[in-house]
Amino acid sequence: MEVKGYFPIPIWREQIKVEKKFKKHVINYIENNKMLSNRSSPKLSHSQSLKSLNSNMNNKNSNYEENNILDKPGFSKIKIEIKKILKNCFIEYLGDNQKENEVVLRESWINNCDKGGSQFAHNHGNSILSYTYYINYDFNKGHAPIFFERPIFNSSPFFSLLSWTKWTASRNILFEIMEGDILIWPSYLQHGYFENKGDYRISISGNALLKEISNSGYSFQIKS
Ligand SMILES: [Fe+2]
Repeated sequence: MEVKGYFPIPIWREQIKVEKKFKKHVINYIENNKMLSNRSSPKLSHSQSLKSLNSNMNNKNSNYEENNILDKPGFSKIKIEIKKILKNCFIEYLGDNQKENEVVLRESWINNCDKGGSQFAHNHGNSILSYTYYINYDFNKGHAPIFFERPIFNSSPFFSLLSWTKWTASRNILFEIMEGDILIWPSYLQHGYFENKGDYRISISGNALLKEISNSGYSFQIKS
């Protein structure tokens, strides 16, 4: 007897060693630039990734670039690493013809969660792949592990069962994640974490698109 999952959801995991100097730089940056608190948790803050809603929305030159954490001083090396891994990821998921395509990095930001904080389940819009790179993270010191929710399709029957198997689970908690891991997943996937029990759970997250989406009949391009 054999049971196979024929349509798994791809979640990419790879290590980028966190240099001590870089970690210090990130901690220092977020200490001085905690701009947004998350509505689900006052213990969770982010660096700014999107332009303030008060800025002039009609200004064509007003794009999101200037608030991307990966475009700030001290982040250029990690930006190159992340972009390279995302490229491999797109090729793996969408095929070899993506080798000629360009990865477009969109908004990116630092997350800092202190003891008692959490992140409600959410997904990321206007994006194909999303990622999190763990800068200061140790599950054994209380940092909350990320979870991914099973996508809900209207056609799925729902049974409320007491049993739990990998076929019925509505959520997967990734206890195996370590500092230096970068996780990349399809942006539609809901994710979050429950109560964080250690200070300075710090990661960089962001969204990525492809410059061009095409088939044999037509194509469309991202402008910036
Ligand atoms: Fe997220």
